[in-house]
Amino acid sequence: MLMTDATTRDTLTDAVAANPRLQPYRLIHKALRALMFHTLQRVAALDAARVDDRAAMQAAVDELLQVCADHLAHETRFYHAPLRERAPRAVLPFDDDHGGHEITITALRTRMAQVAAGGAGARAEAYALYLELTRFIAENLEHMADEETQLTQALWQHFSDAEIAAMGDRLRATFSAQESTYYLRWMARALDDAELAALAGDARAGMPPEVFAGVLGLT
Ligand SMILES: [Fe+2]
Repeated sequence: MLMTDATTRDTLTDAVAANPRLQPYRLIHKALRALMFHTLQRVAALDAARVDDRAAMQAAVDELLQVCADHLAHETRFYHAPLRERAPRAVLPFDDDHGGHEITITALRTRMAQVAAGGAGARAEAYALYLELTRFIAENLEHMADEETQLTQALWQHFSDAEIAAMGDRLRATFSAQESTYYLRWMARALDDAELAALAGDARAGMPPEVFAGVLGLT
């Protein structure tokens, strides 16, 4: 983290939150937090003695870890790489965080597989997974809030809103229809009404009518 002074951090948070400029992390991070809380609760309530419950937990945790890994890759390629060219120091601590998160994701996959295998130690393994996932999510919550304040401000300093919007367009152009639908579903659960209305307008303009109808049917 670049800023440790709480007053400075709070001032920046107020300034970014009230700024009408494009906030590229805002909607997807709300969606990610909703997915994280949902998955953590799934692990908390796991009945480790039941093979079907372990399988469902494994599917849920595997999904979260894949989404997190994809998200890191998306940010690094489409936002942080261009920012690094204009403001390398601003991106450095976030690159470090991303590297650490990749290592933790690998460790969580190993723990998840141990829980899924069952056996006498499965309940203890499940609690250990719950604690490790809690720490991973806690680190991500702080990391994402820093991106939505410090890194957003750095992007504003070095790029126009049109340039930032183009970064998002290039990212979304890599999505399959299935990926677009997945992210829209989680955003629909997480956003406020004004965010959702703006997102729906963008989504309607950016996808075939039958895909958009499918998204509406699923939310
Ligand atoms: Fe990030």
